[in-house]
Amino acid sequence: MAGLPQHIAIIMDGNGRWAELRGIPRTEGHRRGSERAKQIIEAARELGIKNLTLYAFSVENWQRPLDEVFTLMELLKNYLNAERDNMKRQGIRFMTIGNRDMLPGDILTLIKETEDATKDGKAMNLILCLSYGGRDEIIRAVRKLLKEKIDPESLNEDNFKNYLDTDGIPDPDLLIRTSGERRLSNFLIYQSAYAELYFTETLWPDFTKEEFLEAIQDYQKRQRRFGRVLESLRCIKS
Ligand code: FPP
Repeated sequence: MAGLPQHIAIIMDGNGRWAELRGIPRTEGHRRGSERAKQIIEAARELGIKNLTLYAFSVENWQRPLDEVFTLMELLKNYLNAERDNMKRQGIRFMTIGNRDMLPGDILTLIKETEDATKDGKAMNLILCLSYGGRDEIIRAVRKLLKEKIDPESLNEDNFKNYLDTDGIPDPDLLIRTSGERRLSNFLIYQSAYAELYFTETLWPDFTKEEFLEAIQDYQKRQRRFGRVLESLRCIKS
């Protein structure tokens, strides 16, 4: 049986549909989604989860209507301004992954300030994916490798990880996607090779702490074999 996941990654999907179902603007769905994110971040910290990754904005999301992109960026700014001191108090270390070159200067400044202010946090890493795409991350990693002219024979799964944005963060154990879609959508595609997947029909603004706990309990019932048979895993552990 699996214990408490060390790393939970979440695709917070369904904000737009949540709003459309109520006949209100999609941007209102995102606003409710960011309130929900705040609650789930608190719940994860209270439960003792060491790493929480949230897919807040993908590289593909830049192609959404301007007002939606603007709202998402404003929500992010509001979140960082409102929560920075709280994160520090709670021992939450804030970090982001993704293609920073595409982010506006004011957001980059705010990210840097929040990362610096929370850098000593030990309770939980909060990793926000901003302008993030798994393929883009892998290509940027390969570019770094080529620039360093690394010996191809010395490359292995362990040292390749150091070139990814998630350097130093363990792979996700549990990956949750809300809103009934059952795909990874370019999210942590390298790191999720052995993640346990949890899909729920619930739209992100409706995803409660109780359902978060249900997802963790569901994970804890699973047997993780990492491609091996159970007997050989017992030998490694003992
Ligand atoms: C997917 O829903 C969600 C997003 C593209 C944005 C997620 C962002 C937030 C929850 C707010 C920002 C978070 C923080 C922590 C400040 P969708 O719009 O694709 O939904 P749909 O599939 O129903 O259209």
